[in-house]
Amino acid sequence: MADFGVAIVVVVWLHLCFCFCFCFCLNHEGDLLLDAKAGLEDPSHTLSDWDAATDAIACSWTGVTCSGDTVTAVDLTNLGLTGPFPAALCRLPNLAFLSLSFNYINSSLSDSALAPCAVLTHLDLSQNLLVGRLPDALAALPYLTYLDLSGNNFSGPIPPSFGRFPRIQALSLVANLLTDNIPAFLGHLTTLRQLNLSYNPFAAGRIPPALGDLASLEVLWLAGCGLVGKIPPSLGLLSNLTDLDLSGNALSGCIPATFANLSSAVQIELYNNSLRGSIPLGFGKLRSLVRFDASMNKLDGPLPDDIFDGPRLESAHIYSNRLSGGIPAGIARSTSLVEVRLFANRLSGSLPPDLGTNSPLTLLDLSDNLLTGSIPASICDGGALEQLLLMNNMFSSSLPDGLCRCQKLARVRLSNNRLSGEVPAGFWGLPHLWLLELRGNSFSGGISPLIARGANLSDILIDDNQFTGSIPSEMGSLSKLYEFSASNNRLSGPLPSSLRNLRELGKLDLHHNLISGELPRDIHSWSKLSELNLADNALAGCIPPELGELPVLNYLDLSRNLLSGEIPIQLQNLKLNEFNLSNNRLSGALPPLFAREAYRNSFLGNPELCKDSSGLCPVPHGRSYSHSFIWSLRCVFVSAALIFLVGIAWFSWRYRIYMKENLPSDESKWTLTSFHKLRFSEHEILNCLDEDNVIGIGGSGKVYKAILSNGQIAAVKKLWGSSYKDQSTDDSFEAEVATLGKIRHKNVVKLWCCCSHRDCKLLVYEYMPNGSLGGLLHGSKGGMLGWPTRYKIAVDAAEGLSYLHHYCVPPIVHRDVKSSNILLDGEYRAKIADFGVAKVTEMVEKGPKSMSGIAGSCGYIAPEYAYTLRVNETSDVYSFGVVILELVTGKLPIDPELGEKDLVKWVSSMVSHKGMEHVIDPKLNLCHKEEISKVLSVGLLCTSSLPTNRPSMKKVVKMLREVNAERKQGETAVLLLERCS
Ligand SMILES: *[C@@H]1O[C@H](CO)[C@@H](O)[C@H](O)[C@H]1NC(C)=O
Ligand SMILES: *[C@@H]1O[C@H](CO)[C@@H](O)[C@H](O)[C@H]1NC(C)=O
Ligand SMILES: *[C@@H]1O[C@H](CO)[C@@H](O)[C@H](O)[C@H]1NC(C)=O
Repeated sequence: MADFGVAIVVVVWLHLCFCFCFCFCLNHEGDLLLDAKAGLEDPSHTLSDWDAATDAIACSWTGVTCSGDTVTAVDLTNLGLTGPFPAALCRLPNLAFLSLSFNYINSSLSDSALAPCAVLTHLDLSQNLLVGRLPDALAALPYLTYLDLSGNNFSGPIPPSFGRFPRIQALSLVANLLTDNIPAFLGHLTTLRQLNLSYNPFAAGRIPPALGDLASLEVLWLAGCGLVGKIPPSLGLLSNLTDLDLSGNALSGCIPATFANLSSAVQIELYNNSLRGSIPLGFGKLRSLVRFDASMNKLDGPLPDDIFDGPRLESAHIYSNRLSGGIPAGIARSTSLVEVRLFANRLSGSLPPDLGTNSPLTLLDLSDNLLTGSIPASICDGGALEQLLLMNNMFSSSLPDGLCRCQKLARVRLSNNRLSGEVPAGFWGLPHLWLLELRGNSFSGGISPLIARGANLSDILIDDNQFTGSIPSEMGSLSKLYEFSASNNRLSGPLPSSLRNLRELGKLDLHHNLISGELPRDIHSWSKLSELNLADNALAGCIPPELGELPVLNYLDLSRNLLSGEIPIQLQNLKLNEFNLSNNRLSGALPPLFAREAYRNSFLGNPELCKDSSGLCPVPHGRSYSHSFIWSLRCVFVSAALIFLVGIAWFSWRYRIYMKENLPSDESKWTLTSFHKLRFSEHEILNCLDEDNVIGIGGSGKVYKAILSNGQIAAVKKLWGSSYKDQSTDDSFEAEVATLGKIRHKNVVKLWCCCSHRDCKLLVYEYMPNGSLGGLLHGSKGGMLGWPTRYKIAVDAAEGLSYLHHYCVPPIVHRDVKSSNILLDGEYRAKIADFGVAKVTEMVEKGPKSMSGIAGSCGYIAPEYAYTLRVNETSDVYSFGVVILELVTGKLPIDPELGEKDLVKWVSSMVSHKGMEHVIDPKLNLCHKEEISKVLSVGLLCTSSLPTNRPSMKKVVKMLREVNAERKQGETAVLLLERCS
């Protein structure tokens, strides 16, 4: 009995003790977690369940994982947390896993905070705002196997303690601000499987050969690390290496022959270096190789300091891969090869005949080399080929019938080779093909009617060949066809009437062929056609009046044909940038709008046209009107009157609806915040928000032109409405807008005022009559912008941006610099527009705390954005660099003409291969060549892939000004037409 009693007492005691311990332990860990939370700002309240008052035990709190009763893992990834590193977490006695990645942790890391993390194995602090040196304490954590600090602002050298991690397997320091060199002592970390150091501003240095000692290494990323010199052959010892990225350095010499021993290699990236010599034959032994890229996109690495120093600029040419010799035949025997990119090298010889037979080859880009021979017939036998890009080589003979088996092929670019013979019939109609580019070869024969099967064809670009025969009427069934360019061939016969079914057609260029018959009628489906060039054919008959009803046609060239009859008055409806009807057999009078000097060249060489005048058709006066012309004028008049009446009826109906829907019953509820002295009221602005006044539509809203009663003109941006209704959104919107409103600078568009009403917000800006730089440069008037004007625009825009970055407190990051956000006033002075609006807009849409959306526009986004997802001044500098390249080249940042590359890559590769003069806009007069080249260099510097290599906007202004110190400021509209000779 006594024993039993003792047993009970013991059990009860044990139970109590356990319970006490349990509660005590948990409380203690719970307190530590609450300590950690207390130091952090948690704007989205994701940690609201971390609360001592809740009954729930800490193990069930967000992001907390326990093993038994003790916290072993804390995962707070991407919760929007702000503040210093929460050191309390390290005091959790059993914490093995800690991730705070994708937050706003903004302190430095101290040794004392980290030291207690005694059993930590996994630490992920990537994508935060950590600063300062890398702490030695990290390397002393005895169990640490995984350390990711990528995407922070750690600076200084990699400390020697980092050579002493006892168990580290993955070490990632990508995209920080680390300096000095990649240290050899990393070669002591023999437990390493992943070493990722890419994108740090290291000084120019070599790859330590000791890295070859890391026998277990599987991933080695050293992209953008300022590396120079030869690749050490010792890297070939890494037999477990699957992923090697050495891209974006200035590595020189050959690819080491020892790379043939990288028997596990899956991916080898060597692009954008200065490699020479041939691809080692041993590459044929790499049986696991999936991706191989030794192409040359981009001039990279630091440019010499004084970039205006002529001869040294030439030396920039050494920063480019120039692999020579053949493509190793063995490579074709790899069973895993998927992507091969070797464009822009000096490779020669022919392709291995069995390339594509043994592996699921998907992408082959060998453009811009010196390759010869024929395209292998079996290239699609792997059944996966989607992209075949072989432009600018010397491939010859005809396309093999085997290409008709390329059922997955989507993009074909074979321009500028020496290919000849007929294109196999089945090749025209591949089911997934959307881009077929065969320009500049010697192909002959016809376009096969089998093209009807190519249901995805969008761009057929076959100019400059010797194609013959007629255009098959089956082409009318290509419902996605956007561009058909077949100029400079010998196509004959009439245009099939089925072409009028092409609803997506945007560009039809068949100039310089032998096409006869009449122009198609009944073409109202061509609502997207913007360019029609049928010049230099044998077209006869009349010009169909329907042409004048095509809503977006802006380029019309029917010159050098046999067209007769009168010029339909409907053509006056078109807003044409290019208009050429010269050298035909047109007769009668000119429609009045065309009887102007500006159109003189459009009608030359039509002897019957307004015959009674000499050369230039007269400004109309009674006598020269023909009967039919007066008749049609009368028709026009009557219809105009009708349209006017209907218009008035419609307008009053719309207006009533508009007032009902869009305006509050009490207009005074609109709040107007003005930043300048205004001479108009908000009602006046509101009255102008009519669909007829829309001058632009952007991601953030519509822009209206408002002509006010006092004669002033305003541009009104109406932000898309939002569902987010919250006083704090309104307040921060107002605050933000007020900041923008305070800016006064000659190169920044003035924000006059802002009107808001519930969820509708209007921003009222000064109106810029010449529209945007993008619109002007890439429209057909691009050639009117002479170099001096473009130079002035660059300087103006740079000054505006520099003001936002360096003279505003706090600095304003534009976030969306692009040519369409640079506006031109009546005198072509450039002003920056839409600054900060990206931010304001986002606020309106998602609420004040959300700042993480994609910022910027395609083609302008800095490459590091992919790693850091943050924008700052340097991202603006990059985007501005793209604008400079646009000014110099006249090309779009993403231009189908440039193929794979964006403008930055294209320019860099052209400059390094062929020299500056090959990228300069042919519309510019080369007498300014020297100056243009200097500005181009500034553009290239701004678009350096490493943010730290980019100059500040202040420096950019200085450099641009130095380009032509003598050029007087203030030269204006006169320059627009300047064409030096
Ligand atoms: C970190 O961010 C917070 C909130 O934005 C700020 O108050 C604090 O000053 C920042 N700390 C450092 C060291 O930058
Ligand atoms: C990080 O470094 C970049 C580039 O030098 C700088 O623009 C940014 O302000 C820095 N951020 C912090 C939080 O220190
Ligand atoms: C290389 O990988 C294999 C297979 O995963 C593994 O067995 C071997 O231990 C690794 N070699 C080294 C040196 O780590």
